Formats: sequence, structure tokens, C-alpha cells
Amino acid sequence: MTAVGDIGGISTVPGTTSTDRRAVISLLRRLRSEEGQADPLPIWEEMRSMGDVVRAPWGGYFVTGFEACSQVLRGRNWLVPDFAWQERQPDQRRWEAPATREMTRTLPRLNAPAHTCQRRALGNPFDRSALEELRPVIATLVADLLDEFADRLAADGEADFGTLVGEQLPIRTVGRWLGLDPEDHARILSFTHRQVYAQELLPTKSELAISAQATLEMRAYFTELIRHRRAHPGRDALTGWIHHWDARYPDDRAAADRIIYDLTMFITIASLETSAVLMTNAVWLLTRDPSCAAWLRRHPEHIDDAIEETLRYDPPVFVNSRIAADDTVLAGVPVAKDTTVHVLYGSAAHDPRRNPDPGVFDVRRDGGHLTFGGGAHYCLGAGLARLEARELLTQLLERFPTLRPSAPPSYDTSRVVFRRITSLKVTA
Ligand code: HEM
Repeated sequence: MTAVGDIGGISTVPGTTSTDRRAVISLLRRLRSEEGQADPLPIWEEMRSMGDVVRAPWGGYFVTGFEACSQVLRGRNWLVPDFAWQERQPDQRRWEAPATREMTRTLPRLNAPAHTCQRRALGNPFDRSALEELRPVIATLVADLLDEFADRLAADGEADFGTLVGEQLPIRTVGRWLGLDPEDHARILSFTHRQVYAQELLPTKSELAISAQATLEMRAYFTELIRHRRAHPGRDALTGWIHHWDARYPDDRAAADRIIYDLTMFITIASLETSAVLMTNAVWLLTRDPSCAAWLRRHPEHIDDAIEETLRYDPPVFVNSRIAADDTVLAGVPVAKDTTVHVLYGSAAHDPRRNPDPGVFDVRRDGGHLTFGGGAHYCLGAGLARLEARELLTQLLERFPTLRPSAPPSYDTSRVVFRRITSLKVTA
């Protein structure tokens, strides 16, 4: 997820015809429009029609086909673009934004051995037994949220599922897990939505300024949180990380603090918009066709399948980036060492060679997707996101059998990398 500057300033890459370049730029512009956000499928199809590996206008490539994307995510000869890679790039200005530098220190931007060391220390915080313990907690959070949602529906006849439930469930869940004060939830959501611009493909100067301000707020919040938790330990994940990293760096509190900060900050923000999009998308895709929701209500044993199909049909993250560790060949295209490739999750999931009739939303499909990434960087929170979605759909279908969207969802159209649904109005 790499910032590359404003598209207006991009120069032509050798080997790319100006027609190809214009076509890709036009597709990216369409993706940043109401129409493109509401229905990106034709954009993915056009990208794939240009090849499995398509030149990006600023250099590097987009990877469109399922197999090629999977190969990049899982292959050992692909790395994430870390500080060392950034330093080898000719234009250092691209990486100077404070929010970009902050994110480059976090897990998805670390390569071995630093990445291996942090993943080992984290272990799998959402293994089977942890999820089993969390299940009743999340079930209660869902029940409470649906009570509030029901009150709003009863009072107004219509309610915004996206902000009232979709966005609230992930912050309440991760908030409980990390021991965050519920009074801070609104503040955390606010800086999360703004910080993310720096991780976009084409941030403008003003978007980078918004990200920089959000980064300052985020730093102040998590630094104080860690200081306070060290003084008042609890029975939460953050307290566990403080114990672990303080023991590992007994003579260097600053080093321990830096890692604890990076982990807490990144895991919080990684869990919010992504999971919110999954919850809201699931409700939109299931209830826009009443027969689909009704069928699932009669067949709750397929709720997990419905979640997988939602993740496939409309991934919350559209783009992720890797760099070639060595000169290599990808889907027949030679890629030089250090070149960036942008994996397009949505395009991969709609590749008809992997998922026939990809544009059909079919909860019984048993399809394939790469929505949680792959290989060493596979999403740490996939199990938690799936559990939240399962508890939500189980209770929602039971309690609101006639739930219908009153309008299609609205999206933040400034996004290409991270999708954000800003509202989904529903009635019951
Ligand atoms: C539907 C919800 C979610 C989606 C779609 C999602 C998607 C992703 C993707 C695409 C990656 C990058 C994988 C790669 O580079 O191969 C990732 C990484 C990560 N995610 Fe998630 N995520 C979700 C929820 C969560 C949650 C709930 C948490 C934590 C509680 C979380 C924590 C992380 C972390 C820590 C990483 C970095 C892993 C690493 O680089 O080693 N995610 N996620």
C-alpha cells in the first residue's frame, strides 16, 4: 500500500504506450468516482483484459489475475516495500510524508528478520481457543448494538446500518480486546479515517496534510495509552505486549515503547475500516435481494459461506504492494529487482479462471479469494473479523427478517486502496 504522489505529475514509463498509460489512468480515475466505487467490477474486467500484469503509469505493475496475485503474495521472491527499499529509490520526496513514514515502521512494511520476530512474539492471538473465549463477548456486543439499532429503526423508520452497526462492532470488539475506553472510540474512528489517505495510491498534497494531522493525533493518543497502561496493567492484549517487550528490552525502554506503539496503533487501525466494510457489505449484498436473506435465514449453516462470498465479491482492501527481491518473471512478464507490483484483490477475486461467473453473488459458490492477503503477511485478524461477521449475521437475520436497504451504500470516493462505506440506509 504505497503512496506514489499525484497522478498529474507522472512521467511516461519506458515500454508503455501512451494509449496503455491513458487507459490505466482513466480506470484509476473511474475507481475514484461514485460510479466506480458503487460498481468496480467493470473496472476489474477492463484491467484484466489488458493482461495479468499491466504497467502502472508511474512505473511498476498492476497484477490482475488470481494466480499471478497469489504467486506474488505467497512467493518468497517478493518483499514488502520497507525503509531499505525506499532509500534505494531515486525520488525520496515520495516517502517523506509523516504518515507514510509512520506506517513504514509497522508489520506490513517489515521484512524478515524484523517481521518474523514481531509475528513470532504476537503468535496467533485469534487461535481457536481465543476465538471461543471471545465468542460470547462478541455475541453480547452484537446484541447490545442491535438493541440500539432497533430503537433507531422504531423511532425514525429508517436507520444507517453502516455507521450504527457496521462501524461500531469492530471498534467495540477491538476496544474490548485491547482495553480501550469506550469514550475514546469516536476519536479513534476519526483519526483512522483520516490517517489512511497517506496509504492511498494517489494522495494529493491536501490529503497528505490531513493524514499528517491525523498521525499527530494518533501518536498522542497511543503514546498516552501505553504510558497509562504500563502504570495500570489490565487483563488485555496491550498489557501482554507491554510485559513481553519490556522483558525483551530491559535496558531500552524507548525501543520497547516504539514496538508496542507500532503494534497497538497498527492493529487498531487495521481492524476497523476493513471489518466495518465486511459487516456493511454483507448486509447490503444479502438484503438487496430479499430471497437471498430469506434463504440464509432458513439455512444458517451457510452463514460462513455467505461471509466468504462477501469477502470475495467486494474485498475491503483493493490494492496491496510488493517489490521484486530479484529479477524475475511474472505471468510471462520480466520484472526487474526492486520493481513495485500492486496486487489488485478485487480483480483477482473476479478472475473467471478462478471463479466462474464472478459477477454473480452466490453464497453457495465455494469460491476463492485473497482478501486477507497471503504468505508471511497473511492478515493477523482474519479469524476475528470472520467471528464478528458470523455473530452479527446470525443475530441480525433472526431479529430483522424483513430488513431492506432503502438506498445503495455511499462510499468515500477518494479511496482506491482501502474501501470505506460511509452509509447504508435500511428499513425493516
Ligand atoms: C474484513 C476484515 C479485514 C480484512 C479484509 C483485512 C485485510 C488485510 C490484508 C489484505 C492484509 C495484508 C496481507 C498481505 O500483505 O498479504 C492484512 C494484514 C494485517 N491485518 Fe488485516 N484485515 C481485516 C481485519 C483485521 C483485523 C480485525 C485485525 C486485527 C485485529 C487485522 C490485523 C492485521 C495485521 C496486524 C496485518 C499485518 C500482518 C503482517 O504484515 O504480518 N486485520 N489484513
